[in-house]
Amino acid sequence: MTKVNIGITEKNRQSVAEALSHVLADEHILYNKTRSYHWNVEGPSFMELHKLYEEQYTMLAEIIDEIAERIRTIGHYAEGRLKELLKLASLEEPPVPTRFEKQIPSLDADHETIIINLRKLIKKFDEDYKDAGSSDFVTGLLKQHEKMAWMLRSYK
Ligand SMILES: [Fe+2]
Repeated sequence: MTKVNIGITEKNRQSVAEALSHVLADEHILYNKTRSYHWNVEGPSFMELHKLYEEQYTMLAEIIDEIAERIRTIGHYAEGRLKELLKLASLEEPPVPTRFEKQIPSLDADHETIIINLRKLIKKFDEDYKDAGSSDFVTGLLKQHEKMAWMLRSYK
């Protein structure tokens, strides 16, 4: 691996990369869930939710890309194998409900799990690992998830 000299110790960069790999894995799970809900949603707001889900999984795909590239930026490789990502994820993959009444709370709960985790990482990256860039980066992700969660919550 190329030597990376950006003022963060190797050990700290490693810790940040590992934490980001877990986030990357959870984003994959949520991306997939949102996309399968887009396909299978049923209910009176079908078209609206079909479109909202598409907007959100498109955003999640962008987030996935940004996380993988952040991991590369701090000198590590990004995991891209689904089987390995599943092992790293903390979110689960329960059966896919088709009714929006079940889909909305399930998506919202996953966003909340990610938000709570990201909030911890903001502090950890900055204070424990001295990586202000990654701390700022996850702050950006946090805000995007907060906004997606608000939109979903509004259908409850
Ligand atoms: Fe589609």
